[in-house]
Amino acid sequence: MILAINGSPKPQGNLQRMVEKVARETGHDYEMVHLAKMRINPCLGCVKCAATFRCIQPDDMAPLYDKIVAADALIVGPVVYFGKANGFTHTFLERLFPLRHVEPQVMGKLAAVVCVGGDEAAKVTGEVIYHLESYFEYKVVGSVYFNSATPPCFICGFGTTCQYGGPARWMSPEEFANFTEITPEMFQNFEDHPEIVQGCERLSADLAQAIAALPAKK
Ligand SMILES: Cc1cc2nc3c(=O)[nH]c(=O)nc-3n(C[C@H](O)[C@H](O)[C@H](O)COP(=O)(O)O)c2cc1C
Repeated sequence: MILAINGSPKPQGNLQRMVEKVARETGHDYEMVHLAKMRINPCLGCVKCAATFRCIQPDDMAPLYDKIVAADALIVGPVVYFGKANGFTHTFLERLFPLRHVEPQVMGKLAAVVCVGGDEAAKVTGEVIYHLESYFEYKVVGSVYFNSATPPCFICGFGTTCQYGGPARWMSPEEFANFTEITPEMFQNFEDHPEIVQGCERLSADLAQAIAALPAKK
């Protein structure tokens, strides 16, 4: 079983569709976890989890620990907010702390990272891989990321006039003066980018192969 973590709060956004595609096309059973529909608090730093391998907080993370430990593989999907993994994803990663104590619970387990950003998805993909590998000793099979070039300023309603938003900062004054309309073509779908679709398919295949090579469960 694969546990697929969708960290994006946007229903059916690029990230959710990419994570689902990667999980589904492995051919293995998978469960999607939509972090934005859950209530998961940050780590309290109490370290009580060191003795029990479980967090004392009775929130929506509690039932996930057994699933994470039992899963053949974990897919982690962040979106990029302010140059970092967004809060839902970061909080989830932080709350994995109970699984890294005297008897590490996920050491050597398989993982993959799927990330969507405006233009910084590569950076955040690397940071999430680092988190999984260096703090939890997951074996990260691979990753895929998509830079959608779609800032929130395209949907807020003020994108073409706001002096503080992304377009005003990225564009030259001449370009911004001519930026009078936000059109549907400015919203990119990963499905229209063959290299991203192939990247998802390659990751699915690599994950399926790695799962097939796991020792049989007793
Ligand atoms: C509050 C906020 C901050 C963002 N900051 C960044 C950023 O710093 N760098 C970046 O590459 N993209 C940034 N983005 C763009 C998102 O990563 C982008 O919208 C992404 O396509 C979301 O994917 P989704 O549609 O699957 O949710 C930001 C979006 C929001 C809403």
